[in-house]
Amino acid sequence: MAPAGFALSVDTPRVDEDETDAVTVMVTGDTGHGPFLLRSVAGGGKRGYIFALNPRRREEKQASDQGVGIQDAPPGASCRRQAEADPPEAKMTEIVPLEAAFGAEIRGVDLGAGAGAALMRRLTGALYEHRVIIIRDQTLDEASYLGFGRQWGEPIPHVLDHMRMPGYPDLMTVGNTEARDEDPKIRNGAALWHTDQSYEETPASATMLYSLIAPRQGGETQFCDMAAAYDNLDEAMQRRLDGIRVAHKYGRGKRRRDEPPANPIANDEQDRRVPPVYHPLVMRHPVTGRKALYALGHGAYAIEGMADDEAEALLDELKDHALQERHIYRHKYAAGDLVVWDTLQTMHAATPIGVATSKADSRLLWRISVRGKPAVHAAAA
Ligand SMILES: [Fe+2]
Repeated sequence: MAPAGFALSVDTPRVDEDETDAVTVMVTGDTGHGPFLLRSVAGGGKRGYIFALNPRRREEKQASDQGVGIQDAPPGASCRRQAEADPPEAKMTEIVPLEAAFGAEIRGVDLGAGAGAALMRRLTGALYEHRVIIIRDQTLDEASYLGFGRQWGEPIPHVLDHMRMPGYPDLMTVGNTEARDEDPKIRNGAALWHTDQSYEETPASATMLYSLIAPRQGGETQFCDMAAAYDNLDEAMQRRLDGIRVAHKYGRGKRRRDEPPANPIANDEQDRRVPPVYHPLVMRHPVTGRKALYALGHGAYAIEGMADDEAEALLDELKDHALQERHIYRHKYAAGDLVVWDTLQTMHAATPIGVATSKADSRLLWRISVRGKPAVHAAAA
């Protein structure tokens, strides 16, 4: 029997998904002074264990990693893929689908220690399967966050250059804590459904937000699964949409009822950077090939070769269809959350928030948007 204040649970042994025949057993518990985790792996050319006290704390995880870890099996051990076996940080990663229509939480990752190719393959695979991934409890500075972001593609400095972080133009702060955030057009300039950089010739392929300060209430990001929205169209509508191209322009497009205007373009120079562009209404994902509705929100204002009233009616109909509750997930942040979403297969919208008056109602996140394929997929393109 466990002593008072001591709790223990053992996960069912599972065969790893990477075809190496490794079996993982995870034991978690609480000593009464804090949680611990013991994870043991055997088979498939791997053996070893990781023990961590209070595994949610990065510094203790690092200390535990120095003592023990997953080791290669001795020569002659059975191993189908030993030459390309994943390093420990990838082997220990768990992908847990959210209790929502889509999205997944990633566990067992410390991005402060860097992300190698094996881990990036797991993360990108999770993103393309689940559209949104949440990596909790991260401790990152600007450089380590940017280093991670660049592994997903080429960062895109925001067209609104006054939104870029001084010294880090590829980063943008988002929230309600800075002097400029007293202006509701800036503070809530993303509180309408949109797709990042859909107004650019080469739009964003992924966006990530890293939460430094999270308010007790509010501050969620809402996501819409545009791949499921496409799948849930009837076949006649899917056929009708084939080949349609939509015109996009920053600041244009019809807003839905109660949506505020987007953070406005501040000068002619910014406006010149974003001339109208056309993108397919149904976009095939460049890595998976899966079809999705693309960018029906802010900026989508016309359809090539279609009368304006007919185009507006079709865009409205599709937006109503996409924004059904069954296609929506709302993420409530905790400090340390790093949320990545597939911008080619989602729309998103911030929820309106007031000006910060204390830490309890403060919201501060760092944003990175990238275009192109992640390096681990670009090499295979
Ligand atoms: Fe956005």
